[in-house]
Amino acid sequence: SHIKEVQFVKSSSRPRDCPKDGKPEFAVLGRSNVGKSSLINLLVRKKEFALTSKKPGKTQLINHFLVNKSWYIVDLPGYGTALSFGMTALASYYFDASAFEGLRFANAPDSARTDWSSFTKGYFLNRDTLVAVLLLVDSSIPPQKIDLDCANWLGRNNIPMTFVFTKCDKVKGGKGKRPDENIKEFQEFIRENYREPPPWIMTSSATGLGRDELLLHMSQLRNY
Ligand code: GTP
Ligand code: MG
Repeated sequence: SHIKEVQFVKSSSRPRDCPKDGKPEFAVLGRSNVGKSSLINLLVRKKEFALTSKKPGKTQLINHFLVNKSWYIVDLPGYGTALSFGMTALASYYFDASAFEGLRFANAPDSARTDWSSFTKGYFLNRDTLVAVLLLVDSSIPPQKIDLDCANWLGRNNIPMTFVFTKCDKVKGGKGKRPDENIKEFQEFIRENYREPPPWIMTSSATGLGRDELLLHMSQLRNY
């Protein structure tokens, strides 16, 4: 599971422009600001590596990074933003497919606003080389409906995923809950919808927590 080299290959604006060499890939998905770029930089042990392909105002790109010349990490555009509703609003949570349909790219200029779901559906439903989605979930905030909707859509479409909880180093004082408490709540919602919940890994790009575990997990999935 060791990463010896990593290279940026290309940014694709359409699923059909993605590399066609058949190498296995993992898609990194999650809300804007959840820590996608930070996690990729942690995995490849390079500061600001994932940012090299980040063009302001052009978030609708699928970025392919080739690891050890044999498999890809794919950075996808972030969706939505964090909302401050917590358990009270989510107490009546139910899977709402139409909510997912309405997800939009974060930070895209109006002129470039594409329906996030039609864009990503094209990628997720047709990408034969996709091994699994790493769905990043911010452990420093309460469960977000947008993340649950995304997880449930992937699950319904039989797309393999692993939950990667980010920012597990964060310690909240006062009324805020700790990462482990937020994760527990998130998983309670997931259990309602899955007979067999997806695997999950706790990470921190600040401390390096979970890096080795995640790389090992990814190598096991590749070898199935
Ligand atoms: P977009 O590119 O806008 O979609 O965001 P992103 O998901 O790539 O998030 P990014 O990696 O840029 O991180 C967003 C912010 O969260 C930055 O200020 C990071 O420093 C911070 N952050 C990311 N991961 C961690 C973490 O594990 N711990 C802490 N404490 N902060 C983190
Ligand atoms: Mg980013």
